[in-house]
Amino acid sequence: MDWPRGFGGLCYGGDYNPEQWPEEVWKEDVALMRRAGVNLVSVGVFSWARLEPTPGAYDFGWLDRVLDLLHDGGIRVNLATPTASPPPWFGLARPDALTVTPDGTRLTHGSRDTYCVHSPAYRAASVRIARTLAERYRDHPALTMWHVHNEYGTVCHCDHAADAFRVWLRSRHGTLEALNDAWTTSFWSQHYSAWEQITPPRATQYLPNPAQVLDFRRFVSDAMLDHFREQKAVLRELTPNIPVTTNFVLGDWVPVNQRHWAAEVDLVAIDHYPSADPPAETAFAADLARGWASGKPWLLMEQAVVTYTGPRMLAKRPGEITRLSLSHIARGSRGAMFFQWRASRGGAELWHAGMVPHAGPDSRIFREICDLGALLPTLQDACAAPVEAGAAILWDVEANWALQAPGLPSTELNHTEAVRQAHRVLYRHGVTADLVHPSADLSAYPLVLVPSLYLICDADAENLRRYVAGGGTLVVSYLSGVADEHARVRLGGYPGALRDLLGIRVEEFHPLPPDIALTLSARSGPHPATSAPTEAETPARSRPGAGPFAYGQAETGTFWSEHVHLEGAEALAVYTGPHTLGTPLSGRPAITRHSYGSGTALYVSTRLTDDAYARLLGLEPVPVELVRRGDWLFAINHGDEEQRVKGLHLPPGGFAVRTRPDLEP
Ligand code: GAL
Repeated sequence: MDWPRGFGGLCYGGDYNPEQWPEEVWKEDVALMRRAGVNLVSVGVFSWARLEPTPGAYDFGWLDRVLDLLHDGGIRVNLATPTASPPPWFGLARPDALTVTPDGTRLTHGSRDTYCVHSPAYRAASVRIARTLAERYRDHPALTMWHVHNEYGTVCHCDHAADAFRVWLRSRHGTLEALNDAWTTSFWSQHYSAWEQITPPRATQYLPNPAQVLDFRRFVSDAMLDHFREQKAVLRELTPNIPVTTNFVLGDWVPVNQRHWAAEVDLVAIDHYPSADPPAETAFAADLARGWASGKPWLLMEQAVVTYTGPRMLAKRPGEITRLSLSHIARGSRGAMFFQWRASRGGAELWHAGMVPHAGPDSRIFREICDLGALLPTLQDACAAPVEAGAAILWDVEANWALQAPGLPSTELNHTEAVRQAHRVLYRHGVTADLVHPSADLSAYPLVLVPSLYLICDADAENLRRYVAGGGTLVVSYLSGVADEHARVRLGGYPGALRDLLGIRVEEFHPLPPDIALTLSARSGPHPATSAPTEAETPARSRPGAGPFAYGQAETGTFWSEHVHLEGAEALAVYTGPHTLGTPLSGRPAITRHSYGSGTALYVSTRLTDDAYARLLGLEPVPVELVRRGDWLFAINHGDEEQRVKGLHLPPGGFAVRTRPDLEP
């Protein structure tokens, strides 16, 4: 499907909430949109209470006028189904459709996203409002795309959820016996003798069952996807040529398995709000989106003109709006969209900035919005070829969920953070990475990084073996491969599923407190502390994509360490510093390398600094962001200093999009 319908070039615009403003403002909005080069707006995301002020009584007059005005102005519409926030009357009439928290509290209306996707009443009402909208606007010429719901994210623990969870569990596990086995319910007297005994992971006296928590997250994602699919079916029936999407959001709390959902949306769309390190976080989010889209184009549906850092909202630096948008586009986005068009004057998000800020169009922000709008139409040729990646990093939302379980050996473990570090290291050294699932075809990548992939199924472990045997270089870091798909430990030594591939056996973990750092050094001689007869005594040496790893000075490992035995691998580095917390690790392997088939598999048993990680991979720093697409190179200088790269002169904050023949090698 051609998406968004009628778009040859890049999309530019944002969420437009005209219902927050008197009609006089709408005309000015359209005039300003035209001035800024806006060509697409998302309308009606939170409009249900205005579209259906009382049950069954619709008011479409205002939306008719908005859509006509936009169309007259040449601006296309990404029309939302408003199901993320049902009106107050709905929750009052159907309290069983309001969210229930794990401790049994039923939430009330007054905020947003207060729904239960398992409630039959809410499901029926969602389909009804989607159908009503599609029937009314199916032939409107401005209609270009459907935006179902908004950032699926509300998890409910009510009785409807419990009923649906049991149905899902029956289809996943087949029998109670299989479920009891997968969940290890023999522990703490949790054995189930009837399906009705099983509930969502509600508030419990002490730690819940980790396999139950993991299955519940899988179930919630599937249930929300059903809610999406029901609306999509209606929209497809009435408007077969209009693409349908929803906006994914990032975060540990997000209950959606974006990879599964990606197969159901007509395009992948993400919202992205970086905080601490916007350039690196932007590259990460964009590469994730491209991974979900299987390399195909995707769309940045929302970003902000300010940076939300948690405690404060920071103004973006001059040019930063353009640089970050360009980074998304370089990495595959079909445009740059924002939340929101005009900053609100009231309501809960009155301080969430807009493309037109409170100050109005005579403002730095709006001028920068106009600059970006003028830039985008010039980028079309540069975006034609696919993004070229020099490495892959494995990311799996289920491994991430499993690492949020209770009772882990450290509360600070986080798969996504480990993946972010690996991505940041490649990013800072000019290597574009694809973020892909462990089941992906890896054969085209010279280098694959596997950061703290706690949970892995047998088939995916076999995929990694196949990749290395075929000549690939794999770099696996601590706590990978230790659990199966039911979050049960693989026995016989860590990293269970990957022991033979890595040629090691880990006997014990030693999480480190924040104030303890271990020193590491490269080694080339025999290791006296290990008795494994298979240990290879080869010196550390340069390997393409994974070395050289010869420290000029001692490096540090923090956060985590392990007691590693060599079983075929060689030690590239050993722990040298004192270990005060348990078995002394001094002299034991910290980083290993193993030849497997025609390839090489490295293991890193601690958290390296970014610089040491880069040295391990044999990378040289590149001071600007570089992304290659066919004949084109995107170069973005996010820093405060002038840079010269490939014959390009990039002033502080400058960027260039050039064909490669114009560049120095
Ligand atoms: C997004 C959300 C928008 C708005 C925005 C605030 O996550 O989709 O509706 O709340 O954040 O910056």
